[in-house]
Amino acid sequence: MSNCLVELSITEKRFLAKQVIKNVKFRILKGEIVSLVGPSGCGKSTLLRIISGLDTDYTGDVRVLGSLPQLHSRGVGFIFQEPRLLPWLTVAENVGFDLGRKGGIHPRVRELLAEVGLQDCADAYPKQLSGGMAQRAAIARGLFTQPSLLLLDEPFSAVDAFTKMRLQDLLLSIAANHETTLLLVTHDINEATYLSDRVITLSSRPGRLSGEVRVPITRQRDRRNPELLRFEAEVLSLLDKDNADFADALAS
Ligand SMILES: Nc1ncnc2c1ncn2[C@@H]1O[C@H](COP(=O)(O)OP(=O)(O)OP(=O)(O)O)[C@@H](O)[C@H]1O
Ligand SMILES: [Mg+2]
Repeated sequence: MSNCLVELSITEKRFLAKQVIKNVKFRILKGEIVSLVGPSGCGKSTLLRIISGLDTDYTGDVRVLGSLPQLHSRGVGFIFQEPRLLPWLTVAENVGFDLGRKGGIHPRVRELLAEVGLQDCADAYPKQLSGGMAQRAAIARGLFTQPSLLLLDEPFSAVDAFTKMRLQDLLLSIAANHETTLLLVTHDINEATYLSDRVITLSSRPGRLSGEVRVPITRQRDRRNPELLRFEAEVLSLLDKDNADFADALAS
């Protein structure tokens, strides 16, 4: 397969009369960690839904792992803002659910639970987990099919700051261990620059590409590295420009 896991070129995406995305084009290469940031409503979740095959109603051309996006592709995992665990299944059964309920006894479930630090919670039910633990279970579930591409939609926005840092580092070690390519949507610019090789910025009304910031700092990165702040400032400038244009439009 080529080195390009996602090749996306959307000329237009509408919801009825409303144009929500216009001329968005990007590629994600194998092994990259890329973040999408932009104001609420600019189409970030819609882009992930298109890449995962959940939304097929757009104009343009999208290739994922060399083919048209396919719903439930085992090569693509999806992690949402909230864990979305099935409450009537145990943690192990949730993680292995791709194989049905009996997937819970698959040896990979135990390995993944150990990797996310939930080895003692295999037989617990989701309601017995804290928010951070539930999200770790969701990460393990997202990895169960050994996807080469993991899509994450604001995966850590519902957890506290300390848990968030630990989950970010867990994600980085998982991406390295499993050679997984990550495409992450986040509102947290600090998170985007800390995690990513590239941060793609979008503007809204309709969603368009506004720029891209490369973060050429090798890992393990130090969160206190002042260089990261410089890249954060670059991302903010791209986003601020959009805000300024919006304010101008409101004023005129
Ligand atoms: N099923 C739908 N039907 C109609 N409009 C929709 C639907 N889903 C999304 N939209 C609209 O499409 C636009 C983009 O939505 P989307 O959820 O992709 O934005 P987002 O960038 O993920 O926003 P947020 O940061 O708030 O999550 C918004 O204007 C939204 O109202
Ligand atoms: Mg969204």
